[in-house]
Amino acid sequence: MNKPVIAVDGTAGSGKGTLARRLADHFDYAYLDTGLLYRAVGYLTLELTKGCKDINEDIACSTVSSITPEILKNPLLRSENITKCASKIASLPAVRQKLIERQQTFAQNPPEGSAGAVLDGRDIGTVICPKAQFKFFLNAQIEVRAARRLKELLEAGENAIHSRVLKDIRERDARDSSRNIAPLVIADDAITLDTSNMDSNAVFFKALEFINR
Ligand code: C5P
Repeated sequence: MNKPVIAVDGTAGSGKGTLARRLADHFDYAYLDTGLLYRAVGYLTLELTKGCKDINEDIACSTVSSITPEILKNPLLRSENITKCASKIASLPAVRQKLIERQQTFAQNPPEGSAGAVLDGRDIGTVICPKAQFKFFLNAQIEVRAARRLKELLEAGENAIHSRVLKDIRERDARDSSRNIAPLVIADDAITLDTSNMDSNAVFFKALEFINR
């Protein structure tokens, strides 16, 4: 029998990662931040090429097998540069294809015998785990999301400024929503939450309310 899966999709800065981690803790499920996989490909690709302007799809694909748990913990993956690169790489069909299996394997056989899995990303409820028991889609006003992201970057010691973060989020939204393969769309059976005026506790308890219904 398939283990339960909770899919948490949404826009950048909507709070999906925080919600997914809280749900995983609460149910003692395994947690996968799928955005980190794209960030790791971005990071490894940048090590092999000069920049992420014209990314070579073959080179990007070749890095997938080098993603290790250590790389996924590298704080550089959250930097502005890697964020931008990951977003561009995420529109390459061959890279997405390579990462599908890794994500589906995690969902079907969560590590350490966990009773279930929580995955967050952009296409979990639509492509990776279309049969997930619960699907959430989070969004918030762009100004709110940019402010959250700016706070994270400043806390991480980055030299970030609001206008640039806002521009990057706008560009990422556009790329994620307009790509041909696995675009950011709301699954028909997803529960949507606008987190603009909610703190992380409110989001978590609202999601729990839906799950316990
Ligand atoms: O979620 P996060 O912001 O860390 O994701 C980084 C980038 O990876 C996003 O901008 C998005 O383009 C891409 N991504 C994706 N599909 C996922 C997770 C992330 O396309 N499931």
